[in-house]
Amino acid sequence: MGLIDLHCHLLPGVDDGSPNLATSLKLAEDAVNDGVSYAVVTPHHLNGRYVNHKAEVLKATDEFQRALKEAKIPLTVFAGQEVRVSGRVMSAYEADDLLYCDASGKYLLLEMPSDEVPAFAKQLVFELQQRGVTPVIVHPERNKQLLAHPEQLADFLQRGCLTQLTASSYLGTFGKEIEKVTTRLIEAGQGTILASDAHALSHREYELGEGIAKLEKQFGKQVADQYQANAKALINGDNVQMNWQPLKKKKKFLGLF
Ligand SMILES: [Fe+2]
Repeated sequence: MGLIDLHCHLLPGVDDGSPNLATSLKLAEDAVNDGVSYAVVTPHHLNGRYVNHKAEVLKATDEFQRALKEAKIPLTVFAGQEVRVSGRVMSAYEADDLLYCDASGKYLLLEMPSDEVPAFAKQLVFELQQRGVTPVIVHPERNKQLLAHPEQLADFLQRGCLTQLTASSYLGTFGKEIEKVTTRLIEAGQGTILASDAHALSHREYELGEGIAKLEKQFGKQVADQYQANAKALINGDNVQMNWQPLKKKKKFLGLF
């Protein structure tokens, strides 16, 4: 079976991802060449800039699937959202305006603002979990606060959240610091899945396959297989067991420098 990408911005013209259908088709081709067979398309929702209501995303995903079929690109797409932590999430939940990784509505891609972890994020996690929704914290390694204090991610893991690490982060596309923190998180078992978070081709390549290959090379086949099994479990709404430890302390030079 091909790879499952649970976070990408392939839908045309709905956010800062693909601007038009031609780019979306090119991205989808790239995804297929990268080994991806299934993609949950996850436009930004409630992030202060973009609102992508459930009904609109469902319709756009159907249209995109038809275009993929016409273009003979063997990619199956599912409708999702990347939902920003905000005071509007619970009302969107109540209004049935959220989309999940899975059809049963168990796993929600939840994004922190890029600079910080808001004080109310833990309350939001609690409220979602009370309703049977497990938040999947997306790219924690790209949040400035968590990048500086990656040990704080444990607060969310302890509360039963899962995590999505971005393949490009792990591959060093966003620089050494993000690559190192991503690697430390993986080493401590604090990553659940890798995803592309692909936006548009000019910014970054489709790197999910490469990310999985690096996982296998660096941490062994069992870890790479586990990440893929977790992606499958998330898209199917099955349970995922995280076996994580606190982050190892950063090695410091103790010499005479
Ligand atoms: Fe994203």
